[in-house]
Amino acid sequence: ATHLDTESMHEHVVIRRGVRSGLPIVVAVHSTALGQAIGGCRIAHYPHWRDGLTDALRLSAAMSDKCALAGLPNGGGKTVVALPPGRTLDAAARRAVLHDAGDVIAGLDGAYATGPDVGTGPDDMVTIAERTPHAFCRPVHAGGSGDSSGHTAVGVLAALHAVCAERFGSADLSARSFAVLGLGRVGGHVLRMLADVGATLVAADLDEGRRMLADTAGAAWTSPQDCLTADVDVLVPAALGGLLTPHAVPTLRCAAIAGPANNQLDIPATADLLHQHDILWAPDIIVSAGGIIHATAVELHQETSAQATARVQGIADTLADILRTARATGSTPAAAARSRARHRIEHGRR
Ligand code: PHE
Repeated sequence: ATHLDTESMHEHVVIRRGVRSGLPIVVAVHSTALGQAIGGCRIAHYPHWRDGLTDALRLSAAMSDKCALAGLPNGGGKTVVALPPGRTLDAAARRAVLHDAGDVIAGLDGAYATGPDVGTGPDDMVTIAERTPHAFCRPVHAGGSGDSSGHTAVGVLAALHAVCAERFGSADLSARSFAVLGLGRVGGHVLRMLADVGATLVAADLDEGRRMLADTAGAAWTSPQDCLTADVDVLVPAALGGLLTPHAVPTLRCAAIAGPANNQLDIPATADLLHQHDILWAPDIIVSAGGIIHATAVELHQETSAQATARVQGIADTLADILRTARATGSTPAAAARSRARHRIEHGRR
């Protein structure tokens, strides 16, 4: 490969200073080889807008693999609104930037459709949809499939069954302990579902205001740092990505890691390091696919929510198969997942 190797290059990236908001907006379309690119709209703080661009490039590329592994006829994309440190959005500024993002998406003529992500929800999709029809997960009363976070959480639980079966020889979650790092939309659901099955729980969030969620679930509240290194069976990353670094791995005390956070590994080689430390890492691109599986089944393929949920449950089989393949071939789950995704994209190319 040379620097002119464009094989994995993005198809289209738009960087725009929003005309209404003045805020930096990046829409990255990684691939439409399998169909329309999909991926959420993230509104988050970055030291510099270029960091938002870097994030959008990485997140959209991961979405291509996520769609391929989920068996969807879609490619990967992402929208990132990069907020300067300390900047907050009042209702008017939020509308302005969502309309700015909507205009960029409209200009892509259907090559890309957005959805909720970190910092956005179903109501924001209604606002984006005032500028473009290509927005998933509007509330049901507004013609969409509704909040995807509960469906993503269902997929995480399915993945945890597969991970526990592979690692501990039993899919029974009640006998296990979990550290849930991040109690946002998805993490909050996951914590509650794990509490419902009687699992032993540790939880943390940067926002002290979410401690109530942990208390209600009967989870021990810790600092994010202590949650990361908690002595539990499974660590469940449910906040921002990049937490699994070469520095962090030797401090981990869990036996397995599976959660919905996107891009958990800071660099691909960290998957090998986890493997060397005998920690089973379930690829986030499989674990986190419940939201897109449900939304596309209902909104693009006119399935019922029950049919869509059955597909989300299929994440358990997809992951079990990847974990088995990795074990049989002596590779990491990350490598097995990546090679299956590449294979699907190559063979499915329109
Ligand atoms: N945040 C979702 C993800 O990372 C994005 C999404 C959800 C896109 C639902 C479309 C529909 O997978």
